[in-house]
Amino acid sequence: MPKYLVILLMGLMATPLLADDADLLIADFEGETYGTWKVTGDAFGPGPARGTLPNQMSVEGFEGKGLVNSFFNGDRTTGTLTSPEFKIDRKFINFLIGGGKHDGQTCINLIVEGKIVRTSTGPNDRPGGTERLDWQAWDVSAWNGKAATLQIVDLATSGWGHINVDQIVQSNSRRGSHLVQRELLVEHDYLLLPVKNGAPKRQVKLVVDGKAFREFEIELAEKDVDFVVSADLRRVRGKTVTIETMLPDQSVALASISISDTLPAAESERRPRFHFTSRRGWLNDPNGLVYFLGEWHLFYQHNPYGWNWGNMHWGHAVSRDLLHWEELPTAIYPRAWGDWAFSGSAVVDERNTSGFKSGDDSVLIAAYTSTGRGECIAFSNDRGRTWTDYDKNPVVKHAGRDPKIIWHAPTQRWIMAVYDERPKVERGIAFYSSPNLKEWTETGRVEGFYECPDLFPLPVDGNPAKQQWVLYGADGKYLIGDFDGKTFHKKSSLLQIWHGNFYAAQTFSDVPDGRRIQIGWGQGITFPGQPFNQQMTIPVELTLRSTPEGVRMFAWPVKEVAAHSERQGIATTLSIDRLTLLDGLRAGILVPTVSLDLFDANLELELQSSQKITMTFCGTPIVYDVKSQKLICQQASATVKPINGRLSLRVIGDRGSLEIFANQGETAISVGHTPTDKGFSIRADGGNAVLLRPNFGDMQAKP
Ligand code: FRU
Repeated sequence: MPKYLVILLMGLMATPLLADDADLLIADFEGETYGTWKVTGDAFGPGPARGTLPNQMSVEGFEGKGLVNSFFNGDRTTGTLTSPEFKIDRKFINFLIGGGKHDGQTCINLIVEGKIVRTSTGPNDRPGGTERLDWQAWDVSAWNGKAATLQIVDLATSGWGHINVDQIVQSNSRRGSHLVQRELLVEHDYLLLPVKNGAPKRQVKLVVDGKAFREFEIELAEKDVDFVVSADLRRVRGKTVTIETMLPDQSVALASISISDTLPAAESERRPRFHFTSRRGWLNDPNGLVYFLGEWHLFYQHNPYGWNWGNMHWGHAVSRDLLHWEELPTAIYPRAWGDWAFSGSAVVDERNTSGFKSGDDSVLIAAYTSTGRGECIAFSNDRGRTWTDYDKNPVVKHAGRDPKIIWHAPTQRWIMAVYDERPKVERGIAFYSSPNLKEWTETGRVEGFYECPDLFPLPVDGNPAKQQWVLYGADGKYLIGDFDGKTFHKKSSLLQIWHGNFYAAQTFSDVPDGRRIQIGWGQGITFPGQPFNQQMTIPVELTLRSTPEGVRMFAWPVKEVAAHSERQGIATTLSIDRLTLLDGLRAGILVPTVSLDLFDANLELELQSSQKITMTFCGTPIVYDVKSQKLICQQASATVKPINGRLSLRVIGDRGSLEIFANQGETAISVGHTPTDKGFSIRADGGNAVLLRPNFGDMQAKP
């Protein structure tokens, strides 16, 4: 028998020496070649791979040095690998498997009497994913004593068009996961599920009345729990829910799921006080920003079940002052496993053009991307609390995502600006027009933008007669120009206000006083060790102003921020008019009255002969380098030109971030920050500078 390939239990090689229960190795792929296995095609290479192949994500989880890896020369190669015949002599066949999830195309098959009686694929059917191999087991007791062969198949040529297999063993005990179920009578509101970051991801199905009520992926904790998440069962109270998932034999995860009327506590010293974070789990893009009946609605990309991106739902929070948010139940759920609710927008359909209105109040319409269907709409007649999917969804089908809907009064039409990809042209934003939010006609396209568009008019210098349009992308780059109801005509080059941790911003629809208010995702602002991750940025008002360089957009914290810090009654205006900062001297000691970690600070600096100014807020330095005109904080940097030798800064500090607005909002920076003290200090280097009238507002939220 070749030493590179151990095939036990072939025909006559019965195993009198082995205890009846011992595992029987079919193949471990440790040799140079496949030995007695028959190879066709070119996907499997000359022999077992030694781990990861060129241009492949890191392959992990296999045993020993070798494995079957059909990524030989990439995904486009195909072929089969067939074992010699062997006798089925144990209850289970256990094996490690990874790679593509394409039924019949990237799989391992068990063939008995010429028929495929068992088949399995890898776990991946979309970009991203993992090259990790995991255990799977087949119960083969039905064919005990029969002759069988194994066939490893790679017939797929596109994404995840390969299969990885290792360590195939006959055994009387099962390795890996198998379907487990638990029934619960829903006598309480929430299912509580323990999470451990980094634990294997389990696909969980909650089945009610024979149908999948919820489906999600979750890093279910075994013993060690990082935090507890919940699934809202209020809509199915009184019924029986069956929790279904795949778990290894020894798992206690299913038993540790519980049911309760109370949600796990949300309070934490690390939670930002006036920036939105979700109680649990991950958030990214703000979605469906709309003002309606006294409430600012913030929907958002949300993974309610994990600390990282995944399971995209529309989370929901409301606020009456744009600073204090109350999280409400999930607004839009994924329709089925893998058909997620990606980003989009919301409007008030005041004229009921959609015909969806059923109560006294106007109907709210949300437009979102269903990853399985296309651009979809949903409506709510109860102030955004519950949403009904339009039964003729999708309303637009194309390659793309993130519909932003606005009402365009001159054409009396709804406009959808949506990220759009198509073959052979640059990616961009497509425009569609509709009388009723249901039927859409494509009217134009602008190239060179990526994800999460926004489109809105703004008066220049507050003059409505001088209106211009802004087209805005996820990365914060924008164009100023005209929108004629069909397409956008640019009049500026690509401009940018925001730098640092800021992405996928959106502006509110239907703001009563006409302000253009924007919230972004503070992308990358993390909260390690907390049950939540990522935050929203402070709401800003956007305006267009004439500058010597032309018309530019400015971002300035909404007036509610200043009103809040003043309301606390302890806004600290230092009784300093002019504080000279002598070269190299730290002036922290001179401003002892400032002791805040939640603040809204206004500073003006006369740069004079200084080369560098360093301001340290609660441990985090903000540096202005006079020569390069760079304002730098953490990893972010932006060019800011002084005006008449002066630099004006507004800095807003919360538990997770600093936001810096330079020159009245011409430039803005958002960065992650953890206060390490409550102090403020400032120094000038290379020459003197002057600090003028520093003012600190206290943002400590009072109950
Ligand atoms: C931007 C984005 C959107 C998409 C969403 C998914 O951050 O990639 O394009 O709709 O996130 O969560």
